[in-house]
Amino acid sequence: MKVQVAIIGAGPAGLLLGQLLHNAGIETIILEQRSQEYVLGRIRAGLLEQGTCELLRRAGVGARLDREGLVHDGVELSILGRRFRIDLKQLAGKHVVIYGQTEVTKDLMDARAKSGAKIVYEAEEVTPSGFDSASPKVSYRKDGKEHTVSCDFIAGCDGFHGISRQSVPDGAIRTYERLYHFGWLGILSDTPPVSEELIYVHHERGFALCTMRSRTRSRLYLQVPLSEDIADWSDAHFWDELKRRLDPQTAAQLVTGPSIEKSIAPLRSFVAEPMRFGRLFLAGDAAHIVPPTGAKGLNLAASDVHYLSEALISWYAEKSGQALDAYSARALARVWKAERFSWSMTKLLHQFPDEGAFGRKMQEAELEYLATSKAAQTALAENYVGLPY
Ligand code: FAD
Ligand code: DHB
Repeated sequence: MKVQVAIIGAGPAGLLLGQLLHNAGIETIILEQRSQEYVLGRIRAGLLEQGTCELLRRAGVGARLDREGLVHDGVELSILGRRFRIDLKQLAGKHVVIYGQTEVTKDLMDARAKSGAKIVYEAEEVTPSGFDSASPKVSYRKDGKEHTVSCDFIAGCDGFHGISRQSVPDGAIRTYERLYHFGWLGILSDTPPVSEELIYVHHERGFALCTMRSRTRSRLYLQVPLSEDIADWSDAHFWDELKRRLDPQTAAQLVTGPSIEKSIAPLRSFVAEPMRFGRLFLAGDAAHIVPPTGAKGLNLAASDVHYLSEALISWYAEKSGQALDAYSARALARVWKAERFSWSMTKLLHQFPDEGAFGRKMQEAELEYLATSKAAQTALAENYVGLPY
C-alpha cells in the first residue's frame, strides 16, 4: 500500500493531524495499536485552550465542542485556606473551555469514519523504517497478516511509550527529564462541580484540583505519594481527604457520590530534541510530557499538529521543504515555554517535603505575591490560556 503520510497513533495528535491533512487532500493512513473502545475509554485531559478550540473548528470538528463545551473566563486558586480568582478574560483576553479529551477523540474518530480515510485499529508490531531515505515504510500486522505501507513521510503521534521515538538512533536524539516524587489520584463522579470554575488547591496536606466534565460530572484530583496503592483509596477516603484540603466553605458545598473512574497518574517533565529525524516527525506526547498542573499536554499536542500539518500541506502544495525544515524548532519553542509553565505551576502548588521549611516559605511568599499582584496574575493568565502559535 502507498499513502502520502503514515500516522502512527490514534490519540488526539494522530487523529487531528489525519483530519487536517485529509481536508487538504493529502492521503493518510492511521495505525493504532489499541481498539477504538480502549482509546475512547481512557480518561485524560479536560481543558482546551482557545487556540486548540479554533484548530478543532478549522478541522471541521467544532460543532459539538461549541454546543457542549463549558467556557471559563476565570480560574480559582485556594491557598492557605482562602480562595481568589484570576480573571483570564480581563488579564489575557482569552478564555479556556472544558471539553474532555474523550469527547475530542470521539469527534475526530467520527469525522475520520465519515471521511472514509483509512484507519487501522489493533495494528500489531507497528514498525517505522527507512525514514533516513526518501522512501520510508511502516510495517504492521493485523489479524495475523503482515502489511507494509510505503509513504513520503511518517508522523510519530504514538504517545510517550510509542515506537516512533524509540526507532531513532540514540546518537540522533537528546532527552531532558524531571520526575516528581508524587502522582495525581483522580476520580470521575456524576456529581455537580463544587464551583462554576476550576479550583487549584495548595494545602499543607497536598495539592488538590476540582475540575469537571459537565454541569453534572466532576473530575477531582489529589496529590498522593507515588507509592500509594489505589486499592487503599475507597470513595469515602477520597472525598474525606479532598474535604480536608478545601477551605471550610467550599468543603461544605461539596456534593459527594460514587466514583465512575479512579486512577493514579505519575507526574513527569520530558522533552526529546529534535522532533524531526529525516522523514519521521514526532508530535504530541511522543516528543514531550508535561506534569498536568498547567493543563498543557493535550494543548501542546494540538499546537505541534498545527505546525506539522501546515508544513506538510506546504510541501505538497508548493513543493517547498522550508516549513518542514523549520518544524522542530518552531514546535520546540512553544513546547519549552509550556514545559516551564507546567513545571512552575507544579512547584508552586504541590508539597515538596524535601525542600524543607525554607522551600515552604518561598512557596508561600510566591503564592501571596500571586494573590495580590496584577503583574503576577497576568503572567499566569497569559500562559494558562495558551501562548500564541
Ligand atoms: P496519546 O493520547 O498518548 O496517543 C497516542 C496513541 O498512540 C495512543 O492511542 C496509543 O495507543 C497509540 N500507540 C502507542 N504506541 C503505539 C504503537 N507502537 N503503534 C501504534 N499505536 C501506538 N493532560 C492534561 O492536560 N490534563 C490531564 O488531566 C491529563 N491527564 C492525563 C492522564 C494520563 C493517565 C495520561 C497518560 C495523560 C494525561 N494528560 C493530561 C496528557 C494528555 O492526555 C496527553 O498530552 C495527550 O493525550 C497527548 O496526545 P497524543 O495524541 O500525543 O498521545
Ligand atoms: C483538568 C486537568 C488538569 O490537569 C488541569 O490542569 C485542568 C483540568 C481536567 O482533567 O479537567
